[in-house]
Amino acid sequence: MAWERTFVMLKPDTVQRGLAGEVLARFERKGLRVAALKLISVSQEQASRHYAVHEGKPFYEGLVQYIRSSPVVAMVLEGPDVITQVRALVGATRPNEAAPGTIRGDFGLDISNNLVHASDSNENAAFEIGVYFSEAEIVSYERDSDKWLAS
Ligand code: CMP
Repeated sequence: MAWERTFVMLKPDTVQRGLAGEVLARFERKGLRVAALKLISVSQEQASRHYAVHEGKPFYEGLVQYIRSSPVVAMVLEGPDVITQVRALVGATRPNEAAPGTIRGDFGLDISNNLVHASDSNENAAFEIGVYFSEAEIVSYERDSDKWLAS
């Protein structure tokens, strides 16, 4: 299966709680390949573009405020069926519904502070990657281990 890309953000609560390394390690251990990675402060423009689909919802203002309240770690991950693979690792949006063993199930208590954002479709991944990364920041490469992870 072809390797695809997704956008993942370690949200302010993950960075503030010192869990960024632990969460990134879960993606690495799974075998996913990091194509881009950076610590950033989300701008108002990036937050509005990223969460435009939620504009008008009761939690929208709080969501934008939260995402801009502290640095986040933005990344592009690659793997076969990567959207589904990553969302399975992350767990359900509501941490009280997220299974133990998932990132939200193991580390989260609350829907607003839910640790990680992960794209939910290839189309949204392409859009979200464009909100946070330029083409030049995304590195194309292969690892020797790739052939042992998926054929
Ligand atoms: P995320 O995957 O980043 O996508 C949209 C975010 O909106 C979601 O994670 C939650 O953090 C947030 N969200 C969704 N529903 C609610 C809600 N009912 N109340 C507060 N935040 C929400």
